[in-house]
Amino acid sequence: MSNKMWGGRFTTGPDAIMEEINASIGFDYRFASQDIRGSLAHVAMLSRQGIIDESAAKAIATGLEQVRTEIEAGTFTFSRALEDIHMNVESRLAEIVGPDAGRLHTARSRNDQVALDFRLWVRDTIDQLDEQLRDLQKALAGRALDHAGAVMPGFTHLQSAQPVTFGHHLMAYVEMLGRDRSRFADARKRLNECPLGSAALAGTSFPIDRDMTASALGFDRPTANSLDSVSDRDFVLETLSAAAICAVHLSRFAEEIVLWATPQFGFATLSDKFTTGSSIMPQKRNPDAAELVRGKSGRVIGALTGLLIVMKGLPLAYSKDMQEDKEGTFDALQSLSLCVAAMTGMVGDLTPDLKRMKAAAGSGYAIATDLADWLVRALDMPFRDAHHVTGRLVAMAAERKIPLERLTLDEMQSVDSRITAQVQDVLGVDQSVRSRVSYGGTAPNNVRTQARAWLKRIAKDEAASK
Ligand code: ARG
Repeated sequence: MSNKMWGGRFTTGPDAIMEEINASIGFDYRFASQDIRGSLAHVAMLSRQGIIDESAAKAIATGLEQVRTEIEAGTFTFSRALEDIHMNVESRLAEIVGPDAGRLHTARSRNDQVALDFRLWVRDTIDQLDEQLRDLQKALAGRALDHAGAVMPGFTHLQSAQPVTFGHHLMAYVEMLGRDRSRFADARKRLNECPLGSAALAGTSFPIDRDMTASALGFDRPTANSLDSVSDRDFVLETLSAAAICAVHLSRFAEEIVLWATPQFGFATLSDKFTTGSSIMPQKRNPDAAELVRGKSGRVIGALTGLLIVMKGLPLAYSKDMQEDKEGTFDALQSLSLCVAAMTGMVGDLTPDLKRMKAAAGSGYAIATDLADWLVRALDMPFRDAHHVTGRLVAMAAERKIPLERLTLDEMQSVDSRITAQVQDVLGVDQSVRSRVSYGGTAPNNVRTQARAWLKRIAKDEAASK
């Protein structure tokens, strides 16, 4: 039997393999609620414009509500022979309403319909992700406030560089996530135009009101070019780009948790809730959740590159290749959402070993810069000279295997006679972080101010979204 939705000129049905490669219902069933929302807006507009009569419109709207109820209740039977969500919904509508159901598709095509459904779905998903990212920021800023003065080593090249605070380190991720949220918000702003009414590719001869459907569906305006509307997937690409960058941030943080949780670093432990054991090595406590956050970033990046490749050779307007836009996107955004939730859980679960962090902060002559800065400030040395003098002092201490602050004044003066006992004031990790008061620096007071400011902003956001 040929397809009942479009089979007028066909005498036989598709080959089994044709049906299999063509069908998208196996994944686009996720658009059910968006598809019905779009159809309800479309039918209301058709009726108000006098394109279909009121009684048919009413019957269609009631029928669509019934379809929605059936889908939500799980009693709806999805059929692969009906290809996709659009034709599954419409076909069931015809069973409920009768021939008038066929009027719903006036002045519309599946090409603008799928573009609409996907925009609505991406918009809903961005809104959910934004809330989740905000929760993660809140968890980070809360812990940063608690640990604003806790000293740990800061690294460059993964070598101890200068002491920082644990709170400052956590706040770095709050900033990254803030940029992620603004990238998603930016993508959302641009996607918020309604493609419905572009029809197959050229627009329609019916007197539709695209402003009406656009505003009914919460869009800022209708899209301006029908060809562009049905062939544009920028809104997915932009969202996946934002998602890929965000996933990379989470992956980097996850990598740090993996490092911190090693006995060698020993900076932090995760509880039983966020670790797993080994079936052979009884001593092990593996940070699997963090490893999986790190690993799943690959899927998100893959979805972005995958879709860029699908789109790159497509002429205007719609091509069926574009059906390949969905599965990777669903997988990527669902994975990201899971990763954000896992990170939020781990941020709450993490127990830092503050003693160990502080001890590590002082090792490796991490306060050498503080000594050099003191020479500049107290003795008015050019920084390059101070760097050289400090280097000699570090070499002397290293040879004796002692920290800088254990060198005697005599020993120091043997390198530069102008050094005074005052130098001891800057030789310590607490002094070091306290001195970093420049805007954005690691001084505990700075960190407290930043954490409080973010928590305030987040609380305001939360209140606004309620
Ligand atoms: N299932 C299709 C997709 O996801 C819907 C659009 C089909 N359009 C068409 N002209 N066959 O892209």
